[in-house]
Amino acid sequence: MGNSLSPLTLSIIGFGAIGQGVATIVQNVPQIKVVAIADSKGVALMPDLKDVLARKRGGQPIANSNLTALDVIRTIDHDVVVEVTPTNIHGGEPGLTHVREALKNKRNVVTSNKGPLVAAFDELTQLAYTNGVALRYEATVGGAMPIVNLIRDTLAGARVLDIRGVLNGTCNYILTRMAEEALDYDQVLSEAQDMGIAEADPTYDVTGIDTACKVVILANAFFGRSATFADVDVTGIDRITQDALQLARQRGFAVKLVGDVQELTVSPKLVPIGHPLNVSGTLNAASILTDTAGEITVAGKGAGSIETASAILSDILSVMRDRS
Ligand SMILES: NC(=O)c1ccc[n+]([C@@H]2O[C@H](COP(=O)([O-])OP(=O)(O)OC[C@H]3O[C@@H](n4cnc5c(N)ncnc54)[C@H](OP(=O)(O)O)[C@@H]3O)[C@@H](O)[C@H]2O)c1
Repeated sequence: MGNSLSPLTLSIIGFGAIGQGVATIVQNVPQIKVVAIADSKGVALMPDLKDVLARKRGGQPIANSNLTALDVIRTIDHDVVVEVTPTNIHGGEPGLTHVREALKNKRNVVTSNKGPLVAAFDELTQLAYTNGVALRYEATVGGAMPIVNLIRDTLAGARVLDIRGVLNGTCNYILTRMAEEALDYDQVLSEAQDMGIAEADPTYDVTGIDTACKVVILANAFFGRSATFADVDVTGIDRITQDALQLARQRGFAVKLVGDVQELTVSPKLVPIGHPLNVSGTLNAASILTDTAGEITVAGKGAGSIETASAILSDILSVMRDRS
């Protein structure tokens, strides 16, 4: 591992929307050097970032070596593994093995991948601790919206009693348009898919699975739980009717998909129209209830390549600060 004067060295494991966002923004940070980038097909060693981004965007292979992502994590000397492969809630792979091996090899990990944390939060935080490295995951909850580090650092002097969040931009977009334009669920979902706001298979989002993963991460991080996905009582938005939304609206409420971290629940809930949790469109929001600071609500962009990469960069810079 480098010292405080040498550049911080990173690998980027996963080169989709977020991996490319990270490569794009670290180009402007001279204290950071990317030593390897992996996608599912291979590894670019000592990449020229401009070139590798252009290749990926042009649909060309990025690999210039015979190494695998795991070879990079295990054998290339570097400070931080940025793990940004797809979230898999059934066991967390391939991210779980990447994160586990990185920590075992005394590399700091910064990730936006919920899968490993949902599958093995306690094991991974313990591994980080025993190996004297950081495991940072601001981007797993709320994308660019600060929440993990806000609670851990800024709100360190208060006890957190509950966190309630609107943590899925796709669901929030669908509910907002259904309520404001009196449109049916299927119509808004299909338009959201055309606009790239909802996935072709929207199941993870609309059934509440994605929000439940975020609830698990926050519960384990801040309430000392050892929760997994199975512990969360989940109801999605896929059976919400237009009538229910209009009735709520007439009474001064919006219906939001709310994850309640203390309760370990995800369900559509009534939020007063004037409450700061009532954000519209693809925005995320979280209300943090504390003993001494009262209720603090944050809102921001929960997804997006550069937006999410900004949260990852903030975690990388924290690792850099801790190193010096
Ligand atoms: N997109 C967002 O706005 C957002 C926001 C917050 C959190 N996240 C989380 O961030 C992570 C990345 O999201 P994304 O949108 O960038 O996903 P993505 O576009 O699907 O990209 C995933 C990348 O991982 C690569 N990959 C898959 N298996 C791999 C393996 N075994 N070894 C190395 N690379 C592998 C893929 O390779 P190929 O390119 O070869 O297919 C692809 O480059 C996910 O866990 C997601 O849940 C995303």
